[in-house]
Order: sequence, then structure tokens, then C-alpha cells
Amino acid sequence: MCGIVGYIGSKQAYPIVINGLKRLEYRGYDSAGIALLDAGAFKLYKRKGKVAELDALATQSDIGAALAIGHTRWATHGIPNDVNSHPHLSQSGRLALIHNGIIENFSALKEALIDRGFSFKSETDTEVLVNLIEDIMKEESLPLDQAVRIALNQVIGAYAICVIDREQPDRIVVAKKGSPLVIGIGEGEYFIASDATPFLEFTKNVVYLEEEEMAVVQPGRSLEIRSIASNRMVDPYIQKLQMDLESIEKGGYEHFMLKEIYEQPRSIRDSLRGRLQPDKGLVKMGGVNEYIEKFNKAERIIIVGCGTSWHAGLVAEYIFEELARIPVEVEYASEFRYRNPIISEKDVVIAISQSGETADTLAAIKLAKSKGATIFGICNVVGSSIARETHAGAYTHAGPEIGVASTKAFTAQVAVLSLIALRIAHDRGAIKESDYHRLLQELDAIPAKIEKMLESDAQVLEISRKFKDAQHFLYLGRSYNFPVALEGALKLKEISYIHAEGYPAAEMKHGPIALIDENMPVVVIAPLNTHYEKIVSNVQEVKARNGRVICIVNKGDTEIRKLAEHVIEVEDTLDVFTPLLTTIPLQLLAYHIAVMRGCNVDQPRNLAKSVTVE
Ligand code: G6P
Repeated sequence: MCGIVGYIGSKQAYPIVINGLKRLEYRGYDSAGIALLDAGAFKLYKRKGKVAELDALATQSDIGAALAIGHTRWATHGIPNDVNSHPHLSQSGRLALIHNGIIENFSALKEALIDRGFSFKSETDTEVLVNLIEDIMKEESLPLDQAVRIALNQVIGAYAICVIDREQPDRIVVAKKGSPLVIGIGEGEYFIASDATPFLEFTKNVVYLEEEEMAVVQPGRSLEIRSIASNRMVDPYIQKLQMDLESIEKGGYEHFMLKEIYEQPRSIRDSLRGRLQPDKGLVKMGGVNEYIEKFNKAERIIIVGCGTSWHAGLVAEYIFEELARIPVEVEYASEFRYRNPIISEKDVVIAISQSGETADTLAAIKLAKSKGATIFGICNVVGSSIARETHAGAYTHAGPEIGVASTKAFTAQVAVLSLIALRIAHDRGAIKESDYHRLLQELDAIPAKIEKMLESDAQVLEISRKFKDAQHFLYLGRSYNFPVALEGALKLKEISYIHAEGYPAAEMKHGPIALIDENMPVVVIAPLNTHYEKIVSNVQEVKARNGRVICIVNKGDTEIRKLAEHVIEVEDTLDVFTPLLTTIPLQLLAYHIAVMRGCNVDQPRNLAKSVTVE
């Protein structure tokens, strides 16, 4: 979490850095700050709250400078306030530093620095790091980059940092371990950021720093990258970005989340394009092809992820077991990494992550890799840490997802996982040829069906109006739609702050039924399938206790519409693909309720999109 931005060149740095911070606010938004270096002096502005508040503060003063570093924060050490905001200055005021990550041994380092005469203004781990660097510089008369390297070798934890020195105003020193950092190379200028969105309009040439690398960024000179541990020089690998500016703007929608919900027909098409070839009966995926033997011989597939990505994994469990007949286990990455999981070389681990930066998922992968498993990644962000840590993978081509609550990434993940399951199922001969072709055709038809379903938005808006003041919500589903119930509940609680729980419909009897009364809205995902009769009974049970039932049903439904207070119709599809459709009205329901309650839909309180701390 936290977003960092830096600029050094001949342009005015302030507008570049402040606009960059606004684009990175999805990473954290409880406080923000900027340090400008001009004529050998820092101008430092820090403010609790959003980047817009920092902007309002800073623009009352002098903001001229050709070098600036800025930070948008998601607090870990110390509450969000002006003092704890980054950048942090060293004791003498010579250095300024911004940091994304956690310095785990900060207490020990801080005590040692206090013994050496340092005092601290903030409660942050970051202020410890900047003073450690200053101490090393002074003690050993070293230039900034060397002191940074020595300091980082004493640090345990994760970081992406930018450090500037008012006595060396021609450079920024940056370093990365565990948190992302990308350098944009312009004409006689450099940009630094947590992801490339802050400088998209200026350059498409980027270098992603690898783990435990640092760089001296100096206009007029080529990039100097070194290994933090060995001080060995590393050749920069310059990549060309494919992203465009339009993809990170709201495009006329009131919120990114709504835009992203509406983008789903396109994002699924993009994720299937070239891979799904129903006419030829083919699924073509480079990463899967390369590792097809591993998949075929896998004794088990373990899926790891967090949040919404974990829900996509749960959907995949049903799909893989049904189609490919390989046992699947789905694990929260945070639990997996801290037990002593039994993993062998015959296991394939699929790691799912929109951002590709989630710390727990990354750590789970490293653990499984060390035990010999094959690691396959499903990431949305190209070049992200998880994408680079895996043996192979398949990107979801959902495009940048900015709303903190994940929507289009979820359906793109499910679509890509469906493709993989189909490819393996076919290769293993686990499904009938005719079924395989029917499934390919049907998956191909999903984007158009989502387009149709988005037409029910006005109806979902009306339903939202009726339930916006509810204090609790229950979501029920069975089989493929049990994870959809979890995801529907997560969406609502994330952005509207209404308490919501998702349950397998049959489990309702083992607890949640006690909560049902005339004030409890119950969303039941009830497409026509083999479990239809069972779910009709569950709806009856809710009704019998005066619960208020909202049902997601197929057009041909006859029974449930007689019982429910509201029904939202979804297009018909095969059972395995229902989650791709039933999720859509639940996303819209959460969105509209949150807007009506006056919540900040794109940046819900306490959350962040990219969770780079444990
Ligand atoms: C955060 C986000 C969620 C996301 C989860 C996992 O909690 O707010 O939307 O599902 O992290 O993130 P990942 O990038 O690994 O999918």
C-alpha cells in the first residue's frame, strides 16, 4: 500500500507529482505529502486526508522546483496525521525520503539511533530509515547512494523508497524490495512511481526495478542500477508500455467502479481474445501449453489468493473439479504461508492476483516454489512482482482497475480460469468432445450476455433505493454460486459499510437463519440448475421467517418469482459459467447502495487496492 511518485528533469515537478499521486490514490488515501527541492532547500507540504487537500495546502505557497517526491499513505506505523505523513526529513534536514512498505526491525534501529543522539518527530518506521541513512553518510563520509545501500543491508522488511539530498540536487536514489517501483525514462528527465500510471502521458519507456535493486536516477546520465546486496551493476531492461491514458480515466462515468462494471463485456473479450477459438475447437494459451504436462500429471491444484481473487479461486475449484477432474484446494494466501503446508513437486499452485503485488500471495508463491511446486500466475498487472515470480502464467487483460472494490478483474479471472480448465480437461480427455465444444461456444457468448444484463441496471437501482438503509444483508448461493454469494457480500460491505455475509444456502440452517426477520434482506442467487429445487426450499425458509428476498433468477424461472419480493433476471447459460453473469447485478446493487449512502465508492475507508504489507 501507499503510492510513491518522483520527478527530476527540466519541467515543473509539482504538477507531475501531484497528478501522479491522484492516480495512485487507490493504493492508500489517508494522508499525503510532497517535498520539492529548489535552490538547495526543501519545500515540504504534508496533510492528513486526500491528495486534493494536500494540493490545496501546497498551492497556497511556492511550488516551483524541477525535483520533487510525493507520497499517498495507507497508515501502518502511526495514525494518519500531518506529522506521520511522508516525506520524512532526516534530523539535520539534509535528506527527504518516501517509503512504501514496512521496516520490520525499525524498533531496534530506532533505539540504536536514539543512543547516537537522534530524536524522532513521528511514529513511523520511515523516519528511522532516513535517519539511519543520514547517520551512515555522516559517520563514514559517504555519498547518498552508498549510504542508502549500506542502510538497506541493515533493514529487515519491505520497501520501495525514493531519497533526495539537498546537497546533491541532481539525483534521486531509489530502491526496491517487496514493494513495486518503476522508473520512466523521458528526454533528459526521469519519473518514478509505484506503477506507471503517473507518467503515462510523458513516456512509455520504463524499467521495473527487480527485487533488492537500487538505482541512481540522474538526468543527462543513463540509469545506474545495482544490486543492494552485492553492489554489482545490473543492465537496465527497458520495456515499452502498452497502456494508454484513456484506460485510466473515468470516461464519463461518475465513478471508476461503475465504469469498470460496464467494461466487463470488453474486459472478458480481451481476456479471451486469441485464446478461445470455438470454431477450431481450440484453447491456445502459451503458459498453459508450456506446462501442460505438469497440469495433466498434477495430483492436485492449490489455488492461493486474497479478497476477491480468492473468491475467483473458489469458483475455479468448482470448474476445475467438474471439467478437468483434478482435485483442487483453495487457500487464503495469508493462511497458507504461515502454516506448514504439505506441498510436493507434483502440485501445481495457481496464484491469483489483480495487482500482482499482494504481499501474502507473493510470500505463498515463494514458499510453494521452495518446495518444488510449479507456480502458475493469473495477474492483471503486466510485469508485476507475482507475474515475475511465477514459472508461467496467463494475464487477465482487464485493463487497469482503479476502483478499490474489484469488479472487472474478478470476472476476467474467472474467464481465464475457465479457459485453463477447458484446455486441461480436453487434454486429459476428462470431458466429452461434444460438451467441450458446447462449453467453448458458450464461453464465447458470455460477453454479449453481460451486455444484455447491464440493461437491468435501472431495475437494480430501484431495488437499491428500497434497501439502502438496511443494517445487514445475507447472500446465499449454492455450488458455483456460493462463491458469488461471498463476493456479493464482500462488495456490499467494502463500499457501503453495511454488514453483509455470504453463505452456502444450505448452511443457512446452521446459524444465519437465527438472524432472519422482517428487516433482513436476503439475496439468493438461484439460477435454474440441478440445485434449483433445493434453493427454492431455502427461499421458502427465509420467507417463512419474514425475510425480504431478492433473487437472481433465469428468465425461465417459475417458482422463485412467486416467492421473492424482487427478482433480477440473468441470461441463460451453462451452469459452470453462471458466476460470470450472476455477479453483475450484485456489483451494481453494492454500487448503487453505496452511492445512495454517500460513501466514497472508489476509495472506501480503511481499504487499499494493492496490499503490499502483510
Ligand atoms: C485488496 C483489494 C481487493 C483485492 C485484494 C487482493 O483487499 O481491496 O479488491 O481483491 O486486495 O488483491 P489482488 O491484487 O491480489 O487481487
